[in-house]
Amino acid sequence: MSGSKNRTQTKRIEDFICVACGAYLESVGDSLVCKCGEKYPIADGIPIVLPPGWLLRKKSINLADFERVKRTYDEIHEAVFLSGGRDEYKFCASLLSGLSGKRVLDIGCGIGALFQELANASRIYGLDISLKALKIAKKKFPFSLLIVGMGEFIPFPSDFFDIIFCLGSLEHFLSIEKGLSEMSRILKHDGKGVILLPKKQYWLRSWLFNYVLSSFRPHFMVDQVLRRLVRFGSLCIQPKDRYFSRVEATDLLETSGFKIERFLEYPPNVAPFLAYDYVFLVSSRR
Ligand SMILES: C[S@@+](CC[C@H](N)C(=O)[O-])C[C@H]1O[C@@H](n2cnc3c(N)ncnc32)[C@H](O)[C@@H]1O
Ligand SMILES: [Zn+2]
Repeated sequence: MSGSKNRTQTKRIEDFICVACGAYLESVGDSLVCKCGEKYPIADGIPIVLPPGWLLRKKSINLADFERVKRTYDEIHEAVFLSGGRDEYKFCASLLSGLSGKRVLDIGCGIGALFQELANASRIYGLDISLKALKIAKKKFPFSLLIVGMGEFIPFPSDFFDIIFCLGSLEHFLSIEKGLSEMSRILKHDGKGVILLPKKQYWLRSWLFNYVLSSFRPHFMVDQVLRRLVRFGSLCIQPKDRYFSRVEATDLLETSGFKIERFLEYPPNVAPFLAYDYVFLVSSRR
């Protein structure tokens, strides 16, 4: 192709791959494009690499559910502070020593609450389905590499990350199995992951947490929470919410290609029946 014919500046973006075909993306103007024809926008410097409708259909994910989840999380992040306590992030980060020089991804990172505990990692990437959440994260952590994406279709190459975190997000995915299979794919064979899931016995606590959280903004509570009850028969402010027994969580992780290196409960140092989250330190079994 002659230079005069193609004047558009293209730049290879090393890290991002097309979720439709797996090829590396190039930056053209204010978009990322793939040689397969897929095009992904960039908003305020944040790439949006979400699966196209045809791919969702092909993978048996309902397009309307996907749109609803994306829209709802934007609404939630706009209205309330959706994040846990700082001690829990410190606890999860402390399970991995020597983060320095490592490539780290936080899947379902929300507003980036974990990032401040990862100051030593050389490259901190954050992926979330909500652009609203990532805009908040970017203000606080301008040097993190943020991308709007779905945990079920992670736009990074295989064997790419030294460390992955997924804290309180997997239980909200449309497909937990696809999410775990993607996590296993992108983790290096000698990489490590920290996955936090809520305990089954504590569904009421989590429900109340969400409820109390939303009640700080009465307008949000009426407009969102009650509307959700009428529409979906649930008061939980997040569209999907699941809770696990230890056996269920262990089975899921092991059948998705992870080896469980350590199992902990949070908070630590309390009687097990008072702990409300499971924390798994995992490695790749490939
Ligand atoms: C309870 S918040 C936890 C956020 C963050 N990990 C933290 O602890 O502060 C769940 C997050 O998962 C994101 N999320 C939900 N479904 C997702 C999906 N399928 N792919 C990527 N992110 C998703 C939401 O936008 C939300 O930010
Ligand atoms: Zn492609």
